Amino acid sequence: MALIIGVPRETFANEKRVATVPEVVEKLIKLGFGVLVETNAGVGANCGDDAYVAAGAQIAANAAELWSKADVVFKVRAPSTEEMALMREGTALLSFVWPAQNPELMQQLAAKKATVLAIDCLPRTLSRAQKMDALTSQAGVAGYRAVIEAANAFGRFFNGQITAAGKVPPAKVFIAGAGVAGLAAIGTAAGLGAIVRANDTRAEVADQVVSLGGEFVKVDYEEEGSGGGGYAKVMSEGFQQAQREMYAKQAKECDIIITTALIPGKPAPRLITADMVKSMKPGSVIVDMAAEQGGNCELTEPGQTVVKHGVTIVGYTDLTSRLAKQSSTLYANNLLRLTEELCKAKDGNLNVNMEDDAIRGLTVVKEGAVTWPAPPLKAAPAPAPKAAAPAAAAAKKSSGHGAPSEPMPGGKLAVMFGVMAVLFWLVGAFAPPAFLAHFTVFVLACFVGYMVVWNVTPSLHTPLMSVTNAISSIIAIGALIQIAPPLAEGTAQNEWIRWLAVGGVVLTAVNMFGGFAVTQRMLAMFRK
Ligand code: NAI
Repeated sequence: MALIIGVPRETFANEKRVATVPEVVEKLIKLGFGVLVETNAGVGANCGDDAYVAAGAQIAANAAELWSKADVVFKVRAPSTEEMALMREGTALLSFVWPAQNPELMQQLAAKKATVLAIDCLPRTLSRAQKMDALTSQAGVAGYRAVIEAANAFGRFFNGQITAAGKVPPAKVFIAGAGVAGLAAIGTAAGLGAIVRANDTRAEVADQVVSLGGEFVKVDYEEEGSGGGGYAKVMSEGFQQAQREMYAKQAKECDIIITTALIPGKPAPRLITADMVKSMKPGSVIVDMAAEQGGNCELTEPGQTVVKHGVTIVGYTDLTSRLAKQSSTLYANNLLRLTEELCKAKDGNLNVNMEDDAIRGLTVVKEGAVTWPAPPLKAAPAPAPKAAAPAAAAAKKSSGHGAPSEPMPGGKLAVMFGVMAVLFWLVGAFAPPAFLAHFTVFVLACFVGYMVVWNVTPSLHTPLMSVTNAISSIIAIGALIQIAPPLAEGTAQNEWIRWLAVGGVVLTAVNMFGGFAVTQRMLAMFRK
């Protein structure tokens, strides 16, 4: 028999999100489930009861009716004590749970013989799991909203302008922590035209910062900040001192600071001191996204916007809920993808397959037995340590503004040019003239190719590769000549060579047109 998915109204104060939206209801019904939504569950996210009914859902008049009829409950926030009292025995729950922080709730869920998939326990390093990664989708929305809150509290434009009424300088935005939320904030602030700088203890994110339009600012201290699994570790006292000095400098120069620094399971690192706030220009803004974990800024008041030393400090802990339609839609899609994994037969039933790494990680209670924490993944892909090497070298530079790649020192360059010049002279003096002509073209092609590719931003490397692939199909000309080559009188074309050449033209045409088509599609992703 097909199961009924129930979607209650969120009861946490000021929570406007809802666990599914009408567009997703239709897809859940196609998987064979019935869908029951509590009345007004989606009003905060602009999804009225009518829209749910039109999509095929039933409406429950109140929470008691919903919890009594639902076999599977989709929620955003972990269930409250009142909700736990309404839960039927044997219910399945897909929701944020945070088992480490909620041991009592875990006991209550086990007592109800529930099966619980905690969306916050997804093994995020599995690339297959990305489509279900609600932590990422929600942090992305929060990062975007943090910039909008900053723009709202800031008294100027983000982009620089030259108008008849005067010249406006662009706003300078500094982002502390370039994880999911930080990267979303960098992209949004750069899109609004601000000058964006960012810092993170994990050197491997430098390229991502640059590709989103920001500048990566390094701490003048060599230490690898990656703690494994894409998360940071607590840094040494020496590093923290050097980082404070760099942040103090940025605080004086920048108009807006958005802090997102977090180490899972630890209080938020204190990065912005009261003195740094004092040193900022009047009218500056700080948005402290880590307010809920104690704040990255000393003067943050969680949940509040306060003005201290002329600086507005925004400490909202509900940024995702402030963009409820967007965050609910993304969250609903994450749960849909998870449901698809649980119901591969499309028969409206759940199969919690504990052999599957993603499902095993997510399942924190199974039929009343606590299965959290999941054993570590068999082959957890470690973050590439390579990325740290060039950045560590860049750290030796005294300037805090380290670009991801540093130029070669002058002396070394001169020696290299000297050796190359001698080699070219030897080739020119002794090689046959025919070779020399081809060699000159080859060297020039290498030089032009290098100069062109070197200045392309990393995010455009893939479209560049596909277009180069298409252009390389110029070899088609060689095959064309072989189809009807100029032959001496009386000699006949070898049929084998002719047909091989035809095959060559066909294959290279696929390469050529395919390459251009892929380039077009990739470039379309960058167009607004
Ligand atoms: P994440 O783990 O992806 O990113 C955190 C980043 O901080 C990592 O890149 C890490 O390397 C970096 N970091 C750690 N210690 C650092 C240090 N000392 N200096 C510089 N960088 C450091 O986490 P995510 O998902 O991006 O979330 C960021 C923050 O935003 C968290 O505190 C999260 O709770 C908060 N958040 C707040 C919301 C709100 O409504 N206020 C909503 C969603 C997320």
